[in-house]
Amino acid sequence: MEPVDPFAAVLRPSRTVGGWSSPRGIDTTCLPWRLWEKAKRLAWDPATIDLTADAEHWAGLPLAYQDAMLHVCTGFLVGEEAVTLDIVPLALAVADEGRLEEAMYLTSFAFEEAKHVEFFRRWLTAVGADLDGYYARLATQAAGLGLHYDPTQSVGMWESALPTAMRRVLLDRSPAAMLDASVTYNQFVEGCLAISGYTLWADLFALLDAFPGMQQGIRHIRADEGRHITYGTYLCQRILAEHPDLLDGATARLRELAAFWFEVSPTIDDPDDPISTQLSQDFTARVHDQVERRIAVLTRATTMTVAELERTGAAEAAERELLGID
Ligand SMILES: [Fe+2]
Ligand SMILES: [Fe+2]
Repeated sequence: MEPVDPFAAVLRPSRTVGGWSSPRGIDTTCLPWRLWEKAKRLAWDPATIDLTADAEHWAGLPLAYQDAMLHVCTGFLVGEEAVTLDIVPLALAVADEGRLEEAMYLTSFAFEEAKHVEFFRRWLTAVGADLDGYYARLATQAAGLGLHYDPTQSVGMWESALPTAMRRVLLDRSPAAMLDASVTYNQFVEGCLAISGYTLWADLFALLDAFPGMQQGIRHIRADEGRHITYGTYLCQRILAEHPDLLDGATARLRELAAFWFEVSPTIDDPDDPISTQLSQDFTARVHDQVERRIAVLTRATTMTVAELERTGAAEAAERELLGID
């Protein structure tokens, strides 16, 4: 048997003149297409959100609350930058499998992640947030808690775990590699970290009753992310229905990612900073809870066929249950 050259398959995808999908039609009933339709219908522009009131609220906000806002906001900002940069390998892998509807949906997915980066960055600029001052206070707090902050550190969710899992599918298109990419990106980063992060926003808005521009942006982002996670659940379920033997690896991976996240970004426990401590502890509890809920959803897929998953709309049903979204 000829040894397979993974570079050759990427550089020269298998295509034929008669093999194009669109002349045969588009499957408008499949989930990725329905998500694509929804993405077009619910499109929004971060540049049109009025942030004037947010800037006024910010100017009158005590520093401790400003820092609590910045903690959540910069966490999202960097996370959105990372997912924007790292979605491309999955889109390429899906395209090379000849899945046109999914490849089309992933173009809206990438567009939305880029808009999320824009939104958080615009907001920080509009309110005049002093990030240098914030990071300096954070470094002082970390040192006081015995934590080490090193800006040159290259090990982290955004710095190593996510890019590695995503870039693997450039060369390895095995079901295990595709599942690992989607578990890391969609199930953990989006399904556990981002979803738990939205509850922090809800806590902050309940506490502060302010920032209408941020509230409006978060509503849009949440709806976008609901579609992203639904797609990821569909992809993971499809792979697991065909390869149920991969479940144990996916389950272990989700728990490993949670352990890794909290090793790199420990839960805050600082008696001098009750606001951040409360938010951080709520976040940690929610992430662990979400990990177990996601494992239950993935486990259910191993007892179904791909046809059953499609027919029952299992991914949408699971996300409706987990996220309370339409
Ligand atoms: Fe996003
Ligand atoms: Fe997303």
